[in-house]
Amino acid sequence: MSAAERMITLLFGGTALLVFLFASAPPELPESDVDGRQQEATIPVSKIVAILAAENDIARSLYTSEIVGAGKAVGLQFSEHWQDEGIEAGPLPALFLRATATTVRELTPDLGLFLGSAFPIASSNLFSDSQLPAFRQIMETHEAVMFADESTGQFTAMYPDFASVDACVTCHNRHPDSPKSDWRIGDIMGATTWTYPRRQLSAPEAMQLITSLRSGFIRTYTEYLERAKGFSRPPVIGDRWPSDGDYCLPSADAFRMEFCKRAALQTSTALLNMFDATE
Ligand code: HEC
Repeated sequence: MSAAERMITLLFGGTALLVFLFASAPPELPESDVDGRQQEATIPVSKIVAILAAENDIARSLYTSEIVGAGKAVGLQFSEHWQDEGIEAGPLPALFLRATATTVRELTPDLGLFLGSAFPIASSNLFSDSQLPAFRQIMETHEAVMFADESTGQFTAMYPDFASVDACVTCHNRHPDSPKSDWRIGDIMGATTWTYPRRQLSAPEAMQLITSLRSGFIRTYTEYLERAKGFSRPPVIGDRWPSDGDYCLPSADAFRMEFCKRAALQTSTALLNMFDATE
């Protein structure tokens, strides 16, 4: 696929529109960016990470409200132990992110993603010594922080994670492994933390990061669907959503299309602004 086709597929989910746009397209010009190496790395990593963070917010809120929230109301269960033998449950949102991050690491080893905290339930989510001062700054300003981490050489971006609903606070306060039991609604409970070893990227590299994050969401969701098929009472998998009132789950395609619909405008605008010479 050419870089232009990749961009269209990325933005619009690669369906009929792609055919429509390219059916009457002129013959392709010779490519200069087949593997991205000849492309200049001119895009600041901060701009791409901002897109990734926005996409992550969209996926997390889609998953949290439409799958976990609405799913519980129709009888589906969610657990931190969803991958264990004999457990008939889907991943909690934090675990959904964690599984997504594992795929992202496989597809694009340079890109790191984790939901960190100064008081984590899972000790692997504890911020490193060099991330802690940045987190303190977030606690003061409530704003995202980006910095070059001198101890690791990594560009690091941290986005605050707020206790936005009661469930965040009650579940963490009651959890036996939580080192803190007085979380309150509105607290900053942690930060979604992104790391990348270079300050600038080429356009194909940037596209690859976005595609890899999206693949991470879909692979995690697909793994959940595969497990759900083996539940003693398997939910119906298809075009319907739990918010329709049925004991069901949307197919991976339906989930992907809904995500693309929610993310398209934001991501395409950010990408176009990036290439806008008049800016
Ligand atoms: C039903 C329980 C539950 C709910 C609800 C919940 N969490 Fe968690 N959360 C967990 C568990 C369990 C982990 C540890 C996951 C892991 O193993 O990485 C976690 C991890 C986290 C982390 C990473 C640091 C840590 O504690 O390991 C943050 C930050 C976090 N959650 C914030 C939130 C926020 C914000 C909400 C609400 C929007 C929320 N959580 C809702 C159970 C919950």
